[in-house]
Amino acid sequence: MITFEGAAKFYPDGTVAVAHLDLTVETGKTTVFVGPSGSGKTTSLRMINRMVEPTGGTIRVDGADIRDQNPAQLRRSIGYVIQQAGLFPHRTVLDNIATVPLLLGWRRSRARARALELMDLVGLEPAQAKRYPHQLSGGQQQRVGVARALAADPPILLMDEPFSAVDPVVRTSLQDELIRLQQELHKTIVFVTHDIDEAVRLGDRIAVFRPGGELAQYDAPERLLAEPVDAFVESFIGYDRGVRRLSFFPASGLSLREDVVFDDEDRVERAQTLVAGENEPWALVVDAERMPKGWVSAEQLDRAPSGVPLGSLDLAPYGHTFDVGADSLRAALDAAVLSPAGRAVGVDEEGRVVGVVSQNDLGAAIWSVSE
Ligand SMILES: Nc1ncnc2c1ncn2[C@@H]1O[C@H](COP(=O)(O)OP(=O)(O)O)[C@@H](O)[C@H]1O
Ligand SMILES: [Mg+2]
Repeated sequence: MITFEGAAKFYPDGTVAVAHLDLTVETGKTTVFVGPSGSGKTTSLRMINRMVEPTGGTIRVDGADIRDQNPAQLRRSIGYVIQQAGLFPHRTVLDNIATVPLLLGWRRSRARARALELMDLVGLEPAQAKRYPHQLSGGQQQRVGVARALAADPPILLMDEPFSAVDPVVRTSLQDELIRLQQELHKTIVFVTHDIDEAVRLGDRIAVFRPGGELAQYDAPERLLAEPVDAFVESFIGYDRGVRRLSFFPASGLSLREDVVFDDEDRVERAQTLVAGENEPWALVVDAERMPKGWVSAEQLDRAPSGVPLGSLDLAPYGHTFDVGADSLRAALDAAVLSPAGRAVGVDEEGRVVGVVSQNDLGAAIWSVSE
């Protein structure tokens, strides 16, 4: 547990980097500091490992005042990852990762073995061990940075915008890796970002900082999106927070329609009767394995000659599906909005169609969870 008790940082030039911070970072959880540029996130983070000394207040790690600890020793027990990875350019990947173990006096063979183990953990190939940082992509460099910070197995990991300099696709995969790693390692992670979406994805708790180095709100992501405390937080998290909040509700609660799903071998008239009777504008066609093939409209069915199998009609693309067991209401809504039929296709873990849900039915389900 890391506690900030009235922690403050004023610079001699009059800048208030952190005005007054009271906050508890829970052990084994990911806490995200998010806020606009200059709101004191980095300063707050660096006060934890004494790279910045507070001008007021107290910071404790597991109850012990960090002022009573040797700064170099403290830093070795706290992993630190920054943007651009901050790797040593003239050391190989392996030597970069082994830095802290060697500083701690580990034997070379043990440090190297540990470094290789960590490369595997963060998804780097052993063949990359002998490369130098400039021979790696930005995403790979960040992985090395994470491996280096984890090398001595510190209980605390501080990460300052570690993924901000890589492109969005790589960033998403690094975020996924961090989520996976954290499920395995349960470190106390403090993660700084200016990106609210990244904060919501990664954080168990989110601290929103405002200009002037003040804490505006400290909450679980779901509560933050549901109940921003003031206009600043509301505008910072964005006006689409209602949609983003849906990512916290599972799609498994939706009731899906199966009666408008037809086999591609089925004849046109079979679908016609049902679709007309139910006043449904769209039917979904699946193959013998129940994999989706596409949408057919009621109008198309009206025009089609009877006796024709549904699979031979010109089907509209089904777009992307959502996994009924694993995805959220947000994924279902996204699939419905992007579908030419205005309906989302729900599938099981093998991709087989479970049923479909319309935007209207989704709206009703969303309304009921938003109450
Ligand atoms: N060494 C310094 N001297 C004077 N002002 C500083 C110094 N370091 C940071 N600041 C100021 O403190 C404020 C907070 O900075 P920082 O913690 O880096 O913000 P963030 O990480 O949220 O962007 C900013 O206004 C910044 O300019
Ligand atoms: Mg910063």
